[in-house]
Amino acid sequence: MANSVTVRVPAKINLQLAVGPPRPDGYHDLVTVFHAISLADEITVTPARADSVETSGEGADAVPAGRDNLALKAVAALRAVCALRGTDMPEYAGIAVTIRKRIPVAAGLAGGSADAAGTLVACNELWQAGLTPGELCEISAGIGSDVAFSVLGGTAVGRGRGERLTAALVPPVKYHWVLAFADGALPTPKVYGTLDRLRGDDQVPAPELSSQLMSALRAGEPGEVGPALTNDLAEPAIAMFPALRKTLDAGLELGALGAMVSGSGPTCFFLARDADHATDLAAALPGAGVCRAVATATGPVPGATIVRGRSAAPGKDGH
Ligand code: C5P
Repeated sequence: MANSVTVRVPAKINLQLAVGPPRPDGYHDLVTVFHAISLADEITVTPARADSVETSGEGADAVPAGRDNLALKAVAALRAVCALRGTDMPEYAGIAVTIRKRIPVAAGLAGGSADAAGTLVACNELWQAGLTPGELCEISAGIGSDVAFSVLGGTAVGRGRGERLTAALVPPVKYHWVLAFADGALPTPKVYGTLDRLRGDDQVPAPELSSQLMSALRAGEPGEVGPALTNDLAEPAIAMFPALRKTLDAGLELGALGAMVSGSGPTCFFLARDADHATDLAAALPGAGVCRAVATATGPVPGATIVRGRSAAPGKDGH
């Protein structure tokens, strides 16, 4: 495809997710430690007369095809910023987005946010709009709470709705994860709603960064990171999807260093000692009959990254 740009963009897991009380705008203040993993979607953008989106792969049927698709919201948001800045847009500023999904939909892995982030980075390149990663992160916040992290990647602390990010200053350790995908989806707003109901009238303190997790990450010791994983949304997710309790227990019984629900679920993730241990865990988990599928992944990985397109050297990638 001449003149198209392809971006790879990672899923995220939350090593910590601390949730405060509901805010007047319906969101909750968070402190979360995002971690980008090697499970990734691929987004290709191509100039077209009108905007469109086509999705293939994992859970493609569940992805909205029209304006509700987060990728098309990203196209519209970037186009609006370019118009305000007087960026010289090409004659056909419509965009055909194609999404090759490997990140399951509504699984607590920020799959939709990843697709929006990938589209922002790809269109920025296609239009030669010249926005910095920081500027793309600012636009991201208006599209969804996790989109800015999908642009940034790595391991980062998120505050506010999750969109205010600070990169975590931790040594470059490669962690080995196993993901257990559930047979079903959990809508994020309902999981937050269940958390609020479970808490009832209790005073909810402002969320705080876990010093146990941060010192484990600074030490780079998987054996310390595993027991430090926490998520306030795990309890409501398990209340809505009780099989998740069995999935987490099965992973721990098989020797995982830690086990947690990712985001609002229903994906569970497990920390392995090393690559071989991850392979063993991934082979053994399906035998427990507690999930639809498993995958191994490593992290952290970079955020949305151009893999083919205008900036690639001509001839190297078949363009
Ligand atoms: O921002 P995003 O579209 O990803 O959020 C989906 C939903 O999750 C929100 O509409 C809200 O119900 C809930 N949410 C929340 N507090 C956050 C992030 C998300 O209540 N910090």
